[in-house]
Amino acid sequence: MIVRRGCSEDLPRLTAHDDVRDDWIKRCIELGEYFVAEQNGELVGFLRFSRFWGKIPYMDMIRVLPSYRREGVGTALFHAWERAMIEEGVGHLMTSSEWAEAEPQAWHRRNGFKAAGSIDLRIVQPSPEIFFVKNISGIRKG
Ligand SMILES: CC(C)(COP(=O)(O)OP(=O)(O)OC[C@H]1O[C@@H](n2cnc3c(N)ncnc32)[C@H](O)[C@@H]1OP(=O)(O)O)[C@@H](O)C(=O)NCCC(=O)NCCS
Repeated sequence: MIVRRGCSEDLPRLTAHDDVRDDWIKRCIELGEYFVAEQNGELVGFLRFSRFWGKIPYMDMIRVLPSYRREGVGTALFHAWERAMIEEGVGHLMTSSEWAEAEPQAWHRRNGFKAAGSIDLRIVQPSPEIFFVKNISGIRKG
């Protein structure tokens, strides 16, 4: 498996698998805000991030294609992102998931995130959004 930053050649495959508008996908590729996992030339998963307050790396989405789950692809994507952020010198990572979705929350906790509060987003979804933070300030640069 290869994990690398997303590039313009990935646009059609990311458009097929991500659920945001094409212009946002293009923007994220241009800013280096995708990591993609490939096996035998096929895209099997991706991680997309942005920056909370324009500063703190925020994992907006991680998705592994269903038939490739529980084979370490998500962990490899997360570690590639985390390592890149450590090399940038940032101190914290953030992400979030819906309260009712127990599995993504368990996965975030497994990767070292701690719940840091929730907001009521019933205007767009049935249950609160829980925010997670991971302190990476003590992890050394490679
Ligand atoms: C969550 C997700 C990214 C995990 O990716 P993955 O490639 O399946 O995960 P990995 O194989 O790297 O899992 C590593 C470990 O986490 C465990 N794990 C995997 N998915 C899990 C889940 N949904 N809940 C709890 N534990 C999970 C695995 O059992 C494994 O543990 P082990 O090493 O002790 O066996 C993937 O299941 C997915 O795409 N889900 C749908 C989208 C989603 O919910 N995204 C997260 C919110 S944005």
